[in-house]
Amino acid sequence: MNKVRIGVIGLGTMGEQYTRIYQVHPLAEVTAIADSKPDRLEEIGNKYKVAGRYGDAESLLAEAPVDAVCVATPDFAHYTPVKQALEAGKHVLCEKPFTTDLAEADELLGLSRSRPRQKLQVAFNHRWLSSYYQGYASIRNGSIGKPVAGFARKNDTIWVSTELLKWAAQSTPVHFLGAHDIDLMRWFFASEPVEVHAYGSKGVLTARGVDTYDVIQAQVKFASGAFATFESAWIYPNTFPTIVDSFVEVLGSAGHLHFDRKRESIEMSTEERFSYPKVFLSNEVFGKLRGAFVECLGDFLSAILNDTEPQVTAFDGRQVTAVLDAVSRSLATGQTCAVTPPSL
Ligand SMILES: NC(=O)c1ccc[n+]([C@@H]2O[C@H](COP(=O)([O-])OP(=O)(O)OC[C@H]3O[C@@H](n4cnc5c(N)ncnc54)[C@H](O)[C@@H]3O)[C@@H](O)[C@H]2O)c1
Repeated sequence: MNKVRIGVIGLGTMGEQYTRIYQVHPLAEVTAIADSKPDRLEEIGNKYKVAGRYGDAESLLAEAPVDAVCVATPDFAHYTPVKQALEAGKHVLCEKPFTTDLAEADELLGLSRSRPRQKLQVAFNHRWLSSYYQGYASIRNGSIGKPVAGFARKNDTIWVSTELLKWAAQSTPVHFLGAHDIDLMRWFFASEPVEVHAYGSKGVLTARGVDTYDVIQAQVKFASGAFATFESAWIYPNTFPTIVDSFVEVLGSAGHLHFDRKRESIEMSTEERFSYPKVFLSNEVFGKLRGAFVECLGDFLSAILNDTEPQVTAFDGRQVTAVLDAVSRSLATGQTCAVTPPSL
């Protein structure tokens, strides 16, 4: 295989980035794209010169010459294209969260495991951020002792939930934002989540016509005995100087780690506003996108070309979905809920 032929399914904010990055990658070429909105399909097809254009994933998979697909549809719409792609023999890079429904995640995990030559990577791209990776390596080599507790906050401005995303009411802040931190904490702790108690508040977004949670806090207990609190909110005022306020703490028996991504190591003021422009996850240098997001996509190609296990697997995706499932049950019942263990 010279270049991996890529199909991108869902051409919003993330799908455009996939198309842009893979179209100039030396080991890939985007041969097909799909989106349910014809205008968007034409816009991205023309901008990135992609000939194969399809109105849905099914026809792309049936007709287009692709080895792998990237699924960047909304949170609740990953399952069907991922299943169809696996059944069509393709490698899959799936956006987070893997699925929003645990039964769907279990089914996809089984399907993926039955086809080990086909690679499935979940795009928990924070694992490729150098500061998080440095923290992970420090924990693994014992620098902070045994991880005992964690805290993670990922809060967006209200612009994201009321203007950017047209489907926020079909998701929640913990599915959209907290999923990243849940994956990070499992990775840092090297332990699986077993129990969840969650609290949530509604009102601000519902008053703006978006029926979902404003903020959720979930406390998660892990098999190792460690525990962590995950806060995710969608209602920061738009005056906040960055789109996302992101902070992670890991407290160990002999040290701590703090990751503060809010300031992104750059601050800027203009006559309109003060801001921290986003640079860590993806940024443009000399006309090319770089950063953790690009590295995550590159390693997906490496897994395909070298027939190795992806850095973030279907199992990782399933485990995060299992926590999200327990959060939803805890919010609905007010009870502490067990995280459903994998059956495989
Ligand atoms: N990894 C990250 O850092 C990160 C950041 C933002 C979003 N995301 C995730 O990426 C996914 C996409 O988010 P986004 O912000 O790009 O959303 P978006 O709303 O900007 O784009 C979604 C696109 O999918 C299309 N679409 C919807 N259903 C479809 C279907 N069944 N078949 C084909 N096309 C369909 C829509 O027309 C739209 O163009 C979400 O799961 C989100 O959580 C990840």
